[in-house]
Amino acid sequence: MVLGVLGSGSGSNMQAILDAIDAGTLDARIAIVLSDNPEAYILERARSRGIETGVIDCRGFKTKFPEEAQQETAARLKAAGVEIVCLAGFLRLVKAPLLEVFPERILNIHPALLPAFPGLESWKQALDAGVSETGCTVHFVDEGMDTGPIILQEAVPVMADDTAESLHARIQLVEHRLYPAAIRKVADQLQAGMSR
Ligand code: GAR
Repeated sequence: MVLGVLGSGSGSNMQAILDAIDAGTLDARIAIVLSDNPEAYILERARSRGIETGVIDCRGFKTKFPEEAQQETAARLKAAGVEIVCLAGFLRLVKAPLLEVFPERILNIHPALLPAFPGLESWKQALDAGVSETGCTVHFVDEGMDTGPIILQEAVPVMADDTAESLHARIQLVEHRLYPAAIRKVADQLQAGMSR
């Protein structure tokens, strides 16, 4: 499976996908990594591995993902031969121009047990809500905010002395296992569908 990754930040989840590929537990290749943030460390990580990178021009909008930018993103992903798109800490909402080019082939990792705590900084939302467990979810992306069909999710306990940082770090450890497993599951389903 040829993967394309979109991220806005550190890219530790992309690194976990690369590590799973290196370890032979995920039969895939990352062909391209795109970011809306030219300074994002995810681009550095990709460059150091010789992976094609690019910056998505969001026309100066801080949070919106403009239609033209989504079309350009879809075109770049297609040109790189991408079959599955992985959002890995990508902080803009994907809409029709990109969804229509990759129907049921765009995945997202979210740091909560969806449908609980959608949106930003879900680990802080979980702490503020005083829940005893949260977790992480990999789901298909649809037009909503963190609403698409769930592929895999796993719970993470909230400890009495957790800070936002310690809780997020514990969630990320699980994310790094869950995302490669979810990609494997979707790739297997797609391949089974193709051979039918
Ligand atoms: C991850 O924890 C991911 O779940 C979260 O951003 C972090 C990115 O980390 N995504 C969201 O909150 C999306 N709503 P990374 O850049 O190190 O992979």
